[in-house]
This record gives sequence, structure tokens and C-alpha cells, in this order.
Amino acid sequence: MRYGFIGAGEITAAIVTGLSDGVAEPPEVFLSPRGRTVGRELAQRFPNVRVCAGNQDVLGNATAIVLAVRPAVAREVVGELRFRPGHTVLSALAGIPLAALREWTAPARTVVRTIPLPQAERRQSLTALYPDDPVARELYEQVGGVVVPGDEAMLDAFSAATATFAAHLDYLATIAGWLAEHGVAPEQADGFVTHVFAQLGQSLGTDSLAALTGKHTTPGGINEQLKTDLREAGVPGAVRHALDGVLARLRG
Ligand SMILES: NC(=O)c1ccc[n+]([C@@H]2O[C@H](COP(=O)([O-])OP(=O)(O)OC[C@H]3O[C@@H](n4cnc5c(N)ncnc54)[C@H](OP(=O)(O)O)[C@@H]3O)[C@@H](O)[C@H]2O)c1
Repeated sequence: MRYGFIGAGEITAAIVTGLSDGVAEPPEVFLSPRGRTVGRELAQRFPNVRVCAGNQDVLGNATAIVLAVRPAVAREVVGELRFRPGHTVLSALAGIPLAALREWTAPARTVVRTIPLPQAERRQSLTALYPDDPVARELYEQVGGVVVPGDEAMLDAFSAATATFAAHLDYLATIAGWLAEHGVAPEQADGFVTHVFAQLGQSLGTDSLAALTGKHTTPGGINEQLKTDLREAGVPGAVRHALDGVLARLRG
């Protein structure tokens, strides 16, 4: 399979690194010329990666085309390209519906929406995609795995769920900041919280989220107290409300 990428920024760098780093027979990768530093670095690092002279050259060289420019410029960038019926278009563009993508990329027969994660770099991206497609599966199984929701509306919900990472890290930073306010050296506070939650992260997947929460909730204990206080303060409702807001934005 020959992969082409329109847009060579953060997510392209992660996917291409995952496809290539330490892989005995990596696939051929063709990058668009914009984002020169990222493209040049990838091409210098991996012999299977080439930066093309123009965006249309990417389409000429590859059959699976990953769209990875910012959504705001996507229509203009993609609209200028001439696709072939045999192209498989794999859009990473957040919030751009299949109907629009099909219109922009006609006569390409296959268009798939995908939500790759930066962890593709370590081949640990569980990529939600819709509709199911063997070419999309082949790409994203190489950099982690795939999850296929039942319809496009559910894919939007997956997309909204991926908007929670910064808020999660901000929650951890709040805990570290609070520790520092109580006299702990900031780097020690940061290191402690980082360690504790990295270890907690390791336990994810050993059981359901509800069961793990239960394991960390001693009846009458301090974890139960904090969880109850946050619930009573409306934190779960605020999270749902914020997710609804992201979903509404993604659906335009
Ligand atoms: N980052 C993530 O974790 C993530 C995850 C899932 C989906 N996505 C989606 O992936 C897309 C890209 O995100 P990103 O974080 O990788 O953004 P990014 O780092 O800003 O990369 C966007 C790239 O597009 C290039 N570009 C701009 N105009 C172009 C043009 N006319 N032709 C070709 N390339 C052009 C930019 O080049 P210059 O640097 O020269 O401007 C830049 O290299 C977005 O639609 C986003 O929704 C991102």
C-alpha cells in the first residue's frame, strides 16, 4: 500500500513515525510539501518517506490518501485536488461530515472518517473510524488498532470524547498546584502526581472503569469523600454539558 498525506503536521508525523520506526518493511509514504520542517525530518529519518513537489503529486503517487490539514482550510485545499475513482480517502479532519468529504473528493469511491490519536507514534492509537473499510483498517491496525462505531453520529461522539485530554491534564495540574500551595516543591509535586497517575493508568484495562472506580473507593474513605464532593459540586454534569458543546460544534 502506498500512503499519501495532505498536510504534514502533528498527526501526520505521529502516523508516519508509527508506520516506519523500526519496521522491517515499511510502506511507501508520500507527503505534501507544506509543513516543511516536519516533512523534511520524516524524510531524513525514514527512507520510505518522500516529500512531493505538490499536493497533486501526492495523489499521483498514492492510492490511500490521508487528509490531515486543519479543518478551517480543508475545503479550499481538498477542493483543488483531482481525485481518481480508485483513491481511498481517509479523512482525519475533525467535524467534516462524510457528505461534504464525498462531494469534495469525487470521483473517489471510498471515503472514510478517522480519528487517529497522537499515540500512533508508538503504535498505540486506537483509531475510531467510519465506515468500516479494509484499507483504513490496514493503515490504522499498523499504528495501534481500530474501533468502528455503528454510525457516523457515534463517530462524532468518539471525536468529542477525544476533546477531553487537555482538561484531564489540567485536573492533574490542579492537584499538583494544590500540593505546591501546601509547601511541596513544585517539581516534587509535579513528579508525584505524574507518577501516581501514570501508575493508575497502567491499571486501566485490567477491569471495567466502574469496577476500577469501586476498587479505589473504600466505603467511608477519603477517595469516596472527594468523589462525592465533586459529584455534589456538579462535576459529572459539567463534563457532560461540555461534551455536548463539543459535539454540537463538531456537527456544525
Ligand atoms: N493533532 C491531533 O492529535 C489530531 C488527532 C485527530 C485528528 N486531527 C486532525 O488532523 C488535522 C491536522 O491536525 P494537526 O494537529 O496535525 O495540525 P497541524 O500540526 O497544524 O498540521 C497541519 C498541516 O497542514 C499543512 N497545510 C496547511 N495548508 C496546507 C496546504 N494548502 N496544503 C498542504 N498542507 C497544508 C500545514 O503546513 P504549514 O505548517 O506550512 O502551515 C501543517 O503542516 C486536523 O484536521 C485535525 O482535526 C488531529
